[in-house]
Amino acid sequence: MTKEQIAKQINILRQQLEQANYKYYVLAQPELSDYEFDQKLKELQQLETENPEFFDQNSPTQRVGSDVNQEFTQVFHKYPMLSLGNTYSKGELEDFDLRVKKIVGDNYCYDCELKFDGTSISLTYRNGMLVSAVTRGDGVKGDDVTTNVRTIKSIPLKLNQNINNPWPNEFEIRGEILMPHSSFERLNVERTEIGEMPFANPRNAAAGSLKTQNSAIVAKRGLDCYLYYLLMDKLPTDSHFQNMDIARSWGFKVSQHTRKAENIEEVWDFINYWDKERYNLPYDIDGIVIKIDSMQMRQTLGYTAKTPRWAIAYKFKAEEAASPLLSIDYQVGRTGVITPVANLAPVALAGTMVKRATLHNADIIKALDLHEGDTVFIEKGGEIIPKITRVNLALRPKDAKSIHYIENCPVCGAKLVRNQGEAGHYCPNYRNCPPQIKGKIIHFVTRKAMNINCGEATVELLYNQNLVKNYADLYMLTVEQVEKLERFAKKSAENFVKSINDSKSVPFERVLYALGIRYVGEQAAKSLAFTFGSIDNIKNADVQQISQTDDIGEVIAKSVYDWMHDPENLQIVDRLKEYGLKFTAEVVDNRSKSDKLSGLSIIVTGSFATPQRRSELEEIVKANGAKLQSSVNAKTSFIVAGEKPGGSKIEKANKLGIKIITEQEFLDML
Ligand code: IVH
Repeated sequence: MTKEQIAKQINILRQQLEQANYKYYVLAQPELSDYEFDQKLKELQQLETENPEFFDQNSPTQRVGSDVNQEFTQVFHKYPMLSLGNTYSKGELEDFDLRVKKIVGDNYCYDCELKFDGTSISLTYRNGMLVSAVTRGDGVKGDDVTTNVRTIKSIPLKLNQNINNPWPNEFEIRGEILMPHSSFERLNVERTEIGEMPFANPRNAAAGSLKTQNSAIVAKRGLDCYLYYLLMDKLPTDSHFQNMDIARSWGFKVSQHTRKAENIEEVWDFINYWDKERYNLPYDIDGIVIKIDSMQMRQTLGYTAKTPRWAIAYKFKAEEAASPLLSIDYQVGRTGVITPVANLAPVALAGTMVKRATLHNADIIKALDLHEGDTVFIEKGGEIIPKITRVNLALRPKDAKSIHYIENCPVCGAKLVRNQGEAGHYCPNYRNCPPQIKGKIIHFVTRKAMNINCGEATVELLYNQNLVKNYADLYMLTVEQVEKLERFAKKSAENFVKSINDSKSVPFERVLYALGIRYVGEQAAKSLAFTFGSIDNIKNADVQQISQTDDIGEVIAKSVYDWMHDPENLQIVDRLKEYGLKFTAEVVDNRSKSDKLSGLSIIVTGSFATPQRRSELEEIVKANGAKLQSSVNAKTSFIVAGEKPGGSKIEKANKLGIKIITEQEFLDML
């Protein structure tokens, strides 16, 4: 391809990917499949790496963020970021309406908007491109968080054209960055699993994420953004409602739930509707914002020192319920992590009957100072299971005993461990603690792992009948054994055993994920599989080498290393190998196909972790555009040497002054 063709292809891909993001994250109407999206993104990434002169910070490739730690610089807002006057009462709302009427007369109209419970942001666009994103800060100056904001997929990096209403060369748009419930729950589960403190609510999680120094982490947090305020020298129309409609046409996510209201009674209807309906939204709102629609009237109404006179926020009372605490269950997860859950006398809250509340960990129980027989207040904060916010001390029974966190595993009795710096306790008896054994088998069979057609109840049965004590045992099951089990017949037993056999063709990265190594999620398993190529290479690596892999930090690396050096684990791996499961990656890191080594002539010599690894390295040489040589000559660029490299080759290389490098040094070049 000529440079011109490359530039053209890069542009096409950027447009297609940005459009796909828009369709998916703003309109919620997916257009491309995940697979197609990934393929295009990979192609674009490769073209950009090979042609760095076409770098663009607003390219869709930049949405994955970067690992480089950043400091936030403080930036002054062009227009100060004010807050809103707020009220919880209908009376005060009516007073607000009377004041408005007095100043602008009868002929006004309100826009009623959801009050998103997140963290506010001000975005600046120049020539249709995002140039900066600044937090509210103290209202006068905030933190420049542009790099993090670029990773939020619903925020356009380049705007759509609207011929009738073109965007001006420069303008600001403000809105709220929030964390939807689904992202929040996933994040807190992950944090609890690795012993970190969960976030108290989605608002804190959104604000905390936005201030994360590593934008690659922000990219994975699943943040969203709704825009509600346009600022520019000359707005397209006098109506805020219409202006937001136009902003929507430029690609911004503007809520569809805004309604116009002719008078305060209509406002009140809107408030009452959302006070109930808010529980069906996929994110938190904490009230309704009522704004005068006409920009001219807004100017007439003006501002107080801190807030506009043309708007007010009506805040919902956080719905709360009180109920006696009956007991605390301590659940044991597959990695041994203990999760305390409170059992409550059933009570109605936000449209559902609640019987349980999360407690997350020992620190939270301690902070609440829970006592036996306490009556507790619960609130819903984005999670399906509500949380306990405080105790009703007036109802505490006399001489009530304070609740202490358990010291032993509730199932196997082992003494619990809490690592320094971690919030969670875990049961170390991973080999013999039944919920951990069953949990590991359940994890092994899940769709994203080995995809064996088997539910939790079947695992329970197989375990209780002594047929399966670890996941390797699954591969020894026979139809005769299975058909004797409760709820099984010949046909279903055959299907089950077939599905176990079929799982032998699952690729290595999923097998690695299925092994259930603490902290190794799908992404980490993929990175390890593609970087090391085989389980033997991972086994032979030290903690430092493992931690150099993408997505793998110190903690995960240590956990992988420990797992790979446990004789019982290795025995299970050996058995799985015998049964025919895949322990080498089939594709040698597709992501590293490039022209990076083009023009070079390279020799691979000596023995590596496995004979396959040597062929893989040779494949990598070719896949990245170099010529693979078998004997040393003046054209040889360098030699990648394993253990015991060919003596004559090394001798000749030394004579010719040719560099000899290790496998790792070679991989680092890529
Ligand atoms: S308008 C001049 N509209 O609420 C004020 N704010 O308590 C312009 N918020 O700082 C703000 N949803 O972070 C506006 N639909 C909405 C909102 C909204 C949430 C937040 C915003 C603001 C705070 C004020």
